[in-house]
Parts: sequence; C-alpha cells; structure tokens
Amino acid sequence: MLLPGVSQAALEEQMRELAELTTTAGGHVVGHDVQRREVADPTFFVGRGKVDEIREERDEVAYDIVVCNEDLSPRQQRNLENELKVRVVDRTELILDIFAQHARTREGRLQVESAQLHHTLPRLIGAWSYHRQGGGIGTRGPGEQQIEVERRRIRRRLKDLERELDEVRRQREQQRRGRHGSELATVAIVGYTNAGKSTLLNRLTDAGVRAENRLFATLDPTTRRVRLENGRELLLTDTVGFIQKLPTDLVAAFRATLEEVTFSDVVLHVVDASAPAVLEHAGTVDAELAELGAAGKPRVIAANKIDLVGSAGARRVLTALSERYRRVVAISALTGAGMEELLAAVEDAASGDLVPLRVLVPYGRESVLHELRQLGGLEGSEFTERGTLAWGRAPRQSLHRFQPFLVESAG
Ligand code: GTP
Repeated sequence: MLLPGVSQAALEEQMRELAELTTTAGGHVVGHDVQRREVADPTFFVGRGKVDEIREERDEVAYDIVVCNEDLSPRQQRNLENELKVRVVDRTELILDIFAQHARTREGRLQVESAQLHHTLPRLIGAWSYHRQGGGIGTRGPGEQQIEVERRRIRRRLKDLERELDEVRRQREQQRRGRHGSELATVAIVGYTNAGKSTLLNRLTDAGVRAENRLFATLDPTTRRVRLENGRELLLTDTVGFIQKLPTDLVAAFRATLEEVTFSDVVLHVVDASAPAVLEHAGTVDAELAELGAAGKPRVIAANKIDLVGSAGARRVLTALSERYRRVVAISALTGAGMEELLAAVEDAASGDLVPLRVLVPYGRESVLHELRQLGGLEGSEFTERGTLAWGRAPRQSLHRFQPFLVESAG
C-alpha cells in the first residue's frame, strides 16, 4: 500500500526487497499488487474492493499465501485470512521466519523465539486460524478454551526464554571482557543485509563464516583475529545485517547482539556499491548506529562488490560516498581487490589512541617485542649491546606493559 509521502521509487525498492525476503524465506513469488490510500482500512488494511480482487486472482494464479509489506493488526490479519481463505503474513512475521531459519547460536535462537512468541500472543484469538494448521484451510481453529491453554503455555515459555537469555547475556559479557582483557583493538563489521559482511570477514581471516546469497545469513556476531602487515593484530566481529523498517520486536531482541558495535573501537561499514539504493541503505545503518550510541566512532566505509559496477559507476558511487564519509575504500570481498587499502584504512582508524614509543628489551625477553607487535605494531629494531632497541606504537591503555623498558614515549 502506498501511503502519502512515499515516492514511487522508494515503493518499488520496498516491493523488490519484499520479493527477495519472500524468496529467502523459501517462497516463490507469483504476483504482487499495490494500493494507493490515504489511510489504512481498520478492518482489512486494504479496501474491500481490493480484497475481492485479490481473492479473484486466485483463479488465475494459485497462490497459497499472501505477504503484506506493512505490519497488520491482529484483527486485520484475521479478517483477511477469513476473507481470502489462505494464510496472510505481515512483514514482521516474514522477517522473523527468516531469522528463525538462520539463527545459529543459542542466543540467536532464543532471541528469535522470544520475538516470535511476542508477535503470536495477541494473534491467538478468534475462530478461524490458518497459522498453525498448515493446509487446514476452511477448518475451524482451536476453541476458546484451547486458545487460553495455548496462551498460558506461551507466557510460561516466554518466562523461561527470558531466564535463559539472561544467562547467555552474562556469558557474552564475560567473553567481551575477555576480549578486552586481550587489549587488541576490536573492529565491528556492520552493514545493510546482503552487503557482503560475512564474505569480507572470510576474506580477511580464515574464519570460515558461512556466506550465502540470502538475506540475513548472519544472525550472530562472530569474532576473528586478523594480522596486519606490521604485525599488529585486530579482532573483527561480524554483526547482524540491518534492514529498513526492521520490526521493533526484533530491534529489541537483537539489541544485545548489536551492542557489540557499542564496545568496538572501530566501525567497518560495508556497503553494496552495486545496489541501486546504496545511499538509502547506508543511511539506514547510520541511523541504527546513532541509536546504538556509536555514531561518533572512527569509521571506515568499504564500498563492496565493486567488481559488479563499471568504472563510471564506481566513480559515481565513490564520489557520493566520499561526500558523506571520510574514509571510503573500494573493495571486492569476492575477488580480494582493495584488501590492502582497506586494512590500511582500518589501521588508520584504529590508531587514534596509539602512542609512539621506543623500548630497550634485554635479550631473553623477546615476548615483550611480540606483545608490542600485536598490540600496536613494531616499526623497526636494531641489536645493541644491552638488548634489542625497538620502536613502534602501543595503545595508551597498554603503556604500563612497556614501562620498564621505555626509552622514549610521546605519551
Ligand atoms: P547478511 O548475513 O544478510 O547480513 O549478509 P552479509 O552482509 O553477511 O552478506 P554475505 O557476505 O552473505 O554476501 C551476500 C552475497 O553477496 C553472497 O552471495 C556473496 O557471494 C555476495 N558478495 C559478497 N561480496 C561480493 C563482492 O565483492 N562481489 C560480488 N560480486 N559478490 C559479492
């Protein structure tokens, strides 16, 4: 449905994305329809006439599910199902379904189940229900008593889920502290869904994270270590893909996962340079970053899939991105093009807090040099009578480690 203020182009992009989401969820799109209205109809969401039209279309294309691009109230959804005699799914339910298929870790699965149950609870009313009955079209739904039993079961399950999630969050917090204890700078990879985050993480590390041409292949952050040319090591964390109009249930459910971004030192924002709506997608991610309180973090923009756009197209998208962002690097996570430049930009972004220093390390204490190389980077060294004289950079918070060997430091 086209509401006032939504441009034709934005609508087409949304419908294209909805079709892609449907395919990702395992559906096959046989047709689509749009209605222009000032306000949504409280009974059917679309107008009565449109409901009849959609029903009649069934004689020509034998669809067995209707997907609505906006969220439906429980009542609208029920009325539409009663009229159309097929299952009707709204955008939130569709995305939840995809998330359910893709969640890999325990936390991801718990989060999705919780969001799904929250979504289902107010919809467990009325006599007709095509939700849990598979092909049971035309069959009567569960009676009121059964519905009440089901409602109670869901509330109990939600309580259990909340307890389990608390436990998982505590563990995550510990892992995070462990990572910070390692003092390596952390880089959070963010981006619109399907931008190529997992492929990039694979390319940069031997992480073996699955990359698929499906929306939301990644639901759980995966952290891997990457070594830079100068020996410095960084931790890279993949995060869940962002999407326009991410259902609020899900934003809440994934808040903990997205908090990885809040704790990172650098944000590596991957954009799909071949997507027509690249700037809108980047804007959606920016808004989410601001919401997470991460808007001010040093940022690198990786303009990915540059192999798919011609040189004129690449120039156009890079110019547009450079007007908005400071560090923009053209890459192809698939072919490996631009990886060196990207790592240099990441290193630059992660160097804000590095202090240059010179240390004199006695022979036999080489582990100190190794630490310097990992934490900040070793730029040079020479052997002297009293030990190895080395120079490089270290994070301010780790300077104490090198204190006993310090010859000179700007901090
Ligand atoms: P979500 O998990 O949905 O957030 O996706 P993601 O951002 O992790 O994307 P992913 O790495 O799964 O890549 C999505 C699709 O884009 C896959 O089919 C990749 O092979 C493809 N892809 C990634 N990078 C490139 C690239 O540089 N060039 C081309 N041509 N395809 C790419």
